[in-house]
Amino acid sequence: MAVNKSLYGKLDGAEVFAFDITNASGARVRIIEYGATVESLFVPDKNGDFADVLSGFDTLEGFVEHSNYQGMTVGPYCNRIGGAKFAIDGTVYELTPNEKGVTSLHSAGELSHRVWQGEACGNDAVVMRIERADGVGGYPGNIRAQVKFTLTDNNELKLEYSAVSDKKTCLNFTNHAYFNLDGYDGGEITGTFIRINADRYTPVDELSIPLGRLDNVGGTPLDLRQGAVIADGINEDFEQLKLVGGYDHNFCINGYDGTLREFVYCRSDKSGRTLTGYTTLPGAQLYTGNFLKGPTGKGGKPVAYRTGFCLETQFFPDTPNNPSFPQCTFDAGEEYKSVTVYKFGVTD
Ligand code: GLA
Repeated sequence: MAVNKSLYGKLDGAEVFAFDITNASGARVRIIEYGATVESLFVPDKNGDFADVLSGFDTLEGFVEHSNYQGMTVGPYCNRIGGAKFAIDGTVYELTPNEKGVTSLHSAGELSHRVWQGEACGNDAVVMRIERADGVGGYPGNIRAQVKFTLTDNNELKLEYSAVSDKKTCLNFTNHAYFNLDGYDGGEITGTFIRINADRYTPVDELSIPLGRLDNVGGTPLDLRQGAVIADGINEDFEQLKLVGGYDHNFCINGYDGTLREFVYCRSDKSGRTLTGYTTLPGAQLYTGNFLKGPTGKGGKPVAYRTGFCLETQFFPDTPNNPSFPQCTFDAGEEYKSVTVYKFGVTD
């Protein structure tokens, strides 16, 4: 195990560093300070051959110019806020409406497009830290946040988040990695088998804002409880899929109680790689890269339509405007904490 720090690039003259963690079996993850981004992740296939299972970029310029939140940390509030506003104790906070001029998406990219401060932690982890000022993008509170990325010898990438604000505020962090179990250049991810432990999901309107109710997945292409190949359901004539161009929905993880629990299992029969996800959070957004439009990415290859899928663990979208959802409003000084683990393996 070792952590290696190197210069990744410069942004407006400031140095941006990369941290590589390599484990005993040769798996390797690279985290960069821009966006506290998981830049690459090399894990073995069924023959023991390593490939980078994250789509995205291999230069700072790529992340800066094209983003799509590839591998990035998102906060202080990931996913969407309807009408780009919410209220806490009667005070209305107006956010930057960066999507269609109406809704707020991923806090307008604020923390994803800033340079965090990285520090190696032991020989298997890196901590990324950031501070953001009260009122930026409309969000209340001076917030200190950190994410600890650990690569274990069992090929688990563990993400531990913590944050604290000096004013009551809404906190909801995620990582926006796009996985492709056949490697970043493995083509469309529609052949991937996926199982999600969720009886319910949050149906959305045409702006991808939750309608407020939790619908049963039963009898719909969002029923992934027994597992299915993505291609089987993604193009079905089902309104919720047509509204958002494929899978781009928040699944309500069964049995949420704040402890770490398995929520997803994915497998590619081509490479034999598997991915099992665990989280302490109540929701996970399955997003199948429906908006990827092919900017030049890793190895000079296009980051194309549906060539990566995201499993963004989160409080449900638009939580502050939906009192019946598990809440993510934190008092001044109250710590936000969450853990998500992505574990890689191979089929027998
Ligand atoms: C999230 C959203 C998607 C999309 C991506 C970023 O996954 O749910 O609709 O906006 O982020 O492109």
